[in-house]
Parts: sequence; C-alpha cells; structure tokens
Amino acid sequence: MNHLLEEIEKSREDIRNFSSPEKDAAEAFRIRFLGSRGSIKNLMGEMKTVPSEKRREVGQLLNELKIIAETKLEELRGHAGESDQAKQPQIDATLPGELLPLGSHHPITIVRNKIVSIFRQLGFAVAEGPEIEDDWHNFTALNLPEDHPARDMQDTFYVSHSTSGGEDWMLRTHTSSVQVREMEKGKLPIRIICPGRVYRNETISARAHCFFHQVEGLYINTDVSFADLKQTLYFFVQEMFGDSVKIRFRPSYFPFTEPSAEMDISCLICGGKGCSVCKQTGWVEILGCGMVHPKVLENCGIDSNRYTGFAFGMGIERIAMLKYQIRDLRIFSENDLRFLKQFTSAT
Ligand code: DAH
Repeated sequence: MNHLLEEIEKSREDIRNFSSPEKDAAEAFRIRFLGSRGSIKNLMGEMKTVPSEKRREVGQLLNELKIIAETKLEELRGHAGESDQAKQPQIDATLPGELLPLGSHHPITIVRNKIVSIFRQLGFAVAEGPEIEDDWHNFTALNLPEDHPARDMQDTFYVSHSTSGGEDWMLRTHTSSVQVREMEKGKLPIRIICPGRVYRNETISARAHCFFHQVEGLYINTDVSFADLKQTLYFFVQEMFGDSVKIRFRPSYFPFTEPSAEMDISCLICGGKGCSVCKQTGWVEILGCGMVHPKVLENCGIDSNRYTGFAFGMGIERIAMLKYQIRDLRIFSENDLRFLKQFTSAT
C-alpha cells in the first residue's frame, strides 16, 4: 500500500518534469502515462491490492493524477500546434494580389485637356469664372441689353429673376461671361481660353442637353486681325483632328462680335462626300467666332480705338462626338461604365 502511494507520488513528479526530445512529445507522453499500458493504467490495476478502507483515498489520488496528466497532455498538444503554425506562414505572399480596377478620365475631360494643351502651345492661359452669373457678365456687357432679341437664342435658367429692378442671377448660358471678367481686370494684352460648364433650358435629346461644356477663346492686343483668328483656329483643327481636315468660315451673327462667323470642318465620318452626320453637306459646324465688338471692349473699359481682338466659342461635346464618332450626346452624362471604360487619357 505504501509502495503504491510512493508510486503515485513519483508519477506525479515524472508528469511535472516530463520533457522529450522526440518530435511528437505529446504522443510520447500520452503513451507513457495515459496509454492502455501506461503508468496510470498500471497504478489503477494495483487498486485491487488496496485494503477496502483505503480504497476511496487512493482512488481519489489516482483520479487527481489522471487529471494532472490530461492537463499536461493538453498543454503539450497546444504547444505542438503552436509551433507547427509558427512554422507555416499564414499568408502566402507569393500569391498574385487582387487588381484594383483602374479608373479613366471622362471623354469630356480628355478632350478638354487636349484643347487646353493645343492653345497653350500658342500662349493662351486658362481662365475660369463662376457658373452662377449676373445679368451683366452673361448678357449686358456682351452687347445683349435687356429685351435684345438674341437673348432668346439661349434659354436661360434663372436662379432668381427680379421684377423690381434688383439683381438677376442665372446659370451661365455660355463661357463668354468669363471674357468679360478677364477684360474688366484691365490687364492687356489678353490671351486666354476659358473651359467650363454651361446650362440651357433645352429639351434633352441626342443633340441637345440642359448642361454641356464650352471652351471660350479671347485674344486682345493692338493690331489683332481676322487673319490671326483664322490661323489660330486652323492650327487648332489640325492639331485636334489631323492635317487632312479642311476648314471653312461662314458669315454669321453674334451680338458680341463684328464681323461674326461660324467655322465648319470637313466631315470626319464621310471625308466630305456627304452622310447623315453632316446632313449630306460634307461639312460640320464646330464653333462660332468673330472680332470682338467695339461696344463689348468699351463696356469692359478697353479703348476700342487702340485695341482689337478676336473671340471664339466651341462646345466640347461636339468636338468629342466628332473625334470619337459618338452620335448621341446623352451618353456623356449617363455614367455607363461600359462607355466610360473605353477611354484612356492617351486616346
Ligand atoms: N457664346 C456663343 C454660344 O454660346 C459662342 C460664341 C460665338 C462665343 C462667337 C464667342 C464668339 O466668343 O465670338 O453660342
């Protein structure tokens, strides 16, 4: 009996101090102490030699020993697991990453940037102005006094329409308003282009929208002539559409220019033979232009006897439609990724 108690005590020590050089130390431990021929099983087998009045006590000691051994086994297993995990990298750094979808510039932005870079080569700087304008900058200073019939050419969105002589505010109908703001600064000569968004109260269709984009051009100096205007625009068209495109000017009317003209380019779709895009004429209109009206110069405080200038205005959507052969203007503002993904800045 005493011998058994000594054995139990010794086993307890052995369990506590157990260590093994073997790879699977937990399994070695299990076999030695908890296996079917392990030491705890053997000790339990000895129970039958224990006098019945001591059995309870010895039984309890053996149970405790078993729990100690099981706890130790768990511990050994846990450590083994840990070290295995540590050996195996959790993340495979060699796997290819998930590619982030790359965005692209909107075609209007691409064309706008291209127009800006062409005119930059000729020394034009970029000027910008507000989209909410007053009557003076959008109309009156541009030789469109109140009740001028040409105001009807541009269906205006009014932000506030005053009936009692106060200020009228509107969404600008064209970027020509930025011309006025630049001229009013009084720094001459002026050589600017003004890209920006404009608004008109038009029914939305394949050819018209209630908002679109324009680029305005203005050059004011002594001795600016219509020939300068033609040469400047000719350079622009060649850079934008290539050398083989022809241009022509047709007389037109704008209140802020005199003389005024509209410029056509030979149709890019049919090469001038006639098709549905150019309505069988072989030509498509791309911009309005002219010599700045002396009244506009005077309205902005510039001496019209000393200075002359030319101006032009074009729709960016129109240029983009011709460049990319797009037939419906609405697609530019529909945010359809299938359409937008086709454009890269390099195009
Ligand atoms: N502002 C005109 C429009 O929106 C375009 C335009 C025509 C601008 C002739 C000009 C110009 O500067 O000279 O229809």
